[in-house]
Amino acid sequence: MKNICVIGAGYVGLVTGTCFADLGNNVITLDISEERIENLKKGILPIYEPGLEEMVKRNMAAGRLSFTTSYAEALEKAEFAFIAVGTPEGVDGEADLKYVRAAAESIAEHMHQPLIIVNKSTVPVGTGDWVADIVRAKQPRPIPFSVVSCPEFLAEGSALADFMNPARIVLGSTDREAANKVADLHLPLRAPIVITDLRTAEMIKYASNAFLATKISFINEIANICEALGADVKEVAAGMGYDPRIGKQFLNAGLGWGGSCFPKDVKALAYMATVQGKHPQLLQAVMDINKYQRRQVVLKLREMLGTLKGKHIGLLGLAFKPNTDDMREAPSVEIARAVQAEGGIVRGYDPVARHTAERVMPSVKLCASAYEVAEGADALVVCTEWNEFKQLDLARIKSAMRQPVMVDGRNLYEPEQMAALGFKYRGMGRGLNGSLGL
Ligand code: NAD
Ligand code: UGA
Repeated sequence: MKNICVIGAGYVGLVTGTCFADLGNNVITLDISEERIENLKKGILPIYEPGLEEMVKRNMAAGRLSFTTSYAEALEKAEFAFIAVGTPEGVDGEADLKYVRAAAESIAEHMHQPLIIVNKSTVPVGTGDWVADIVRAKQPRPIPFSVVSCPEFLAEGSALADFMNPARIVLGSTDREAANKVADLHLPLRAPIVITDLRTAEMIKYASNAFLATKISFINEIANICEALGADVKEVAAGMGYDPRIGKQFLNAGLGWGGSCFPKDVKALAYMATVQGKHPQLLQAVMDINKYQRRQVVLKLREMLGTLKGKHIGLLGLAFKPNTDDMREAPSVEIARAVQAEGGIVRGYDPVARHTAERVMPSVKLCASAYEVAEGADALVVCTEWNEFKQLDLARIKSAMRQPVMVDGRNLYEPEQMAALGFKYRGMGRGLNGSLGL
């Protein structure tokens, strides 16, 4: 049992703190948002993540997990302080480190015993050294501390399982003993542990996210070529995926990658390279392809409807991916904006992201079900592959629509089945079959 303080009660901080508590540690999670902490104390979570609410309540009841806005209280007994604050995109594409700086300064001001500061946030290479400099400069009196980089690899929607069954734990530090202590915290997870230097650990995180984004952009480029040549990208990806050197995962073609991480992280990596005089041309292409995937939806709608002016377009799914209410960089937001810019009227439905959508797309009418979105629609666009859309009564959907037009941005349905139902259907990269019914 260790005393751990986690700074930042967002996706990563809340999951990290709660999982460490579940592993038997004493955890206190801190956030600067009074509202967030007041709600958490009542068991009300700021985010939707399957299984998290139950785990938070269970560990609070067991006395292993508590919440505070006070750094003094959080650091009172802490042996480890995990920094899990946001690192959003800055004005030029760089990672904005203002929250990390504030957290490092507050740690320095309130620590009163030796501490291992563990950085979980995704931060530019060199940030670990920078955090150490800030803490050293801000401490009222010198107290020993070490900085360890421990990047997080969880994905939203499967965060608890990802934390508890990680593919690997990456640790970087100039202080091997501190890295070993952080490794010990992770021993119950029985995962391979890679211990390296600070900068290399920070780079492993960016390189991993950039590689995954590249894999998706690669299959999207193949999808676009498939569409032109009459091949089906779903079968191409399946055929490629059997080769273990390629692998089956992250080969789903569609609207491309969104969310709170890939977009900002690929950009931040490209920025770091450019500042160093390098020319990150692959990363630029990966970002360009991703932008084009969203534009294609509007092109497909135009192709099938003629003008979008006055047309009612329904969006199925608003979150950037299923099993989350996160809409940061969600394709739905960009598509809604583009349709509205051409005079279209947009409605949408999402099983859990409704409250997020109320905030981020106030001009979109939000509906209570997929069937309500279909009511009088000239076209539907599948933006998120939620499970509940897999078993929709498509005949009912069709009869509710004014025109049976569908752009399936996530290749959820089969072109032949949609054509048989009488839809004018376009998938992403589904070759000639993807245009059936036209
Ligand atoms: P988030 O925006 O959901 O949460 C960040 C939290 O930090 C907020 O609640 C905010 O109020 C709090 N905060 C800001 N400044 C603070 C301060 N000085 N002291 C205390 N709390 C403060 O962010 P997130 O999605 O959890 O991401 C955190 C980091 O982890 C980012 O660097 C991100 O790139 C990385 N990451 C995220 C994911 C993911 O799936 N979301 C996965 C891996 C890594
Ligand atoms: C991603 C990584 O998967 C995590 O390992 C990492 O920790 C995290 O970023 C991070 O650094 O924050 P996340 O953004 O939650 O996690 O979601 P993913 O499942 O990776 O999906 C990202 C985007 O790619 C989504 O918009 C999804 O729709 C899209 N995607 C994913 C595809 O278009 N095709 C695929 O085959 C897979």
